[in-house]
Amino acid sequence: AGVVPFRGERQAGIITAAQDRLHFASFDVITDSKADLVDMLQRWTAAAERMTRGEETVAGGAVDHGEYMPPADTGEALGLDASSLTLTIGFGPGLFGPSASDPNRTDRFGLGDHRPAALVDLPTFAKDAIEPTRSFGDICVQACANDPQVAVHAIRNLARMGFGVVSVRWSQLGFGRTSSTTSSQQTPRNMFGFKDGTANIRADQTDVLNRWVWVDPSDVPGKAAWMAGGSYLVARRIRMDIEPWDRANLAEQEAIVGRTKGVGAPLGMTNENDTPDFSVATGDGPVIARNAHVRLAHPDNLGGIQILRRGYNFTDGSDGFGHLDAGLFFIAYCRDPGKQFVPMQRALASKDAMMEYLTHNGSALFACPPGLGSGEWWGQRLF
Ligand code: HEM
Repeated sequence: AGVVPFRGERQAGIITAAQDRLHFASFDVITDSKADLVDMLQRWTAAAERMTRGEETVAGGAVDHGEYMPPADTGEALGLDASSLTLTIGFGPGLFGPSASDPNRTDRFGLGDHRPAALVDLPTFAKDAIEPTRSFGDICVQACANDPQVAVHAIRNLARMGFGVVSVRWSQLGFGRTSSTTSSQQTPRNMFGFKDGTANIRADQTDVLNRWVWVDPSDVPGKAAWMAGGSYLVARRIRMDIEPWDRANLAEQEAIVGRTKGVGAPLGMTNENDTPDFSVATGDGPVIARNAHVRLAHPDNLGGIQILRRGYNFTDGSDGFGHLDAGLFFIAYCRDPGKQFVPMQRALASKDAMMEYLTHNGSALFACPPGLGSGEWWGQRLF
């Protein structure tokens, strides 16, 4: 049950109906051998395709390969079904030469001229508190599934298979999607208790996706053409100051977001899907405040810009001071991060009232190529 096709025009896991669980991993490539990297990507592809069908990384890998061999599959997904597992791969700026991952790196794989113009490290934003051990990376794999054990098993086995070629730089677990990516999904809630994903791009909005999510062939001329039909993934680990938020009164919480907490309606409206009207004002000023999150993030405020949000809630226990280490692992897909995510986050970082309760402490950018044709392996068009 719950098998999402691994191959197709687009990679699964972008406009696929958002699953409930996430394990996101970012890897550093630790070899200088292109042959070893290509070999690993080929082995990863075969294993990933099997795992998305609910199978072991290799047939009989968990227990049938003999007593005197470490099992070729770690086994914890035996008996579990595919759980809508999707595995989405992306390549970071560090694969192409010096980057925030490692400023001293050379262009080890001779890929410098394959780097798409849009794949450059994100700038530093106001109030950023980026921790390098939670940020950057050469390759990412986003594993989403409806069973956390299935998502963790997938990342664990890819990491194990990559021994000597890649090492995990950081990884993040997420629970509770914070986005709807299809019209049939109910809008979930984030850790502030608000519906999140109401005004998101939907999988059936083909024109909007072509405009704002999928890389057009004209964006990636020459040797960057491997990215045509792909999308850029922006990841931000956003810590939310839960305890101070929980002491803010309801009116203040709603003013910060710009929507009601119960129904999720834009302030001044009745229903969740009503269109916000930013011009409505009372004697005290606009009903949706000038520094409300949804006003600042809305296309009207940003020259029409949109992004596809596909983030997850996280709670990594508590922080040693009695506060929940909780927040939103923000994932966005866009056609050009520099023209979409960057101006949007600039507007939010400096003006959004919500920033008082947020700390961005992880950041990464990856180029996710288009989907795989029959027999194709991850990264084939790049290498
Ligand atoms: C809308 C929460 C960070 C972009 C919303 C909404 C909520 C929310 C409750 C209203 C419902 C909806 O339309 O989804 C949060 C929280 C964040 C966060 C709790 C951090 C922990 C961000 C970031 C960005 C972003 C970093 C992009 C840089 C947007 C956009 C909308 C939105 C584009 C839709 C605006 C519209 O068109 O009405 N967010 N958000 N959010 N958010 Fe965030």
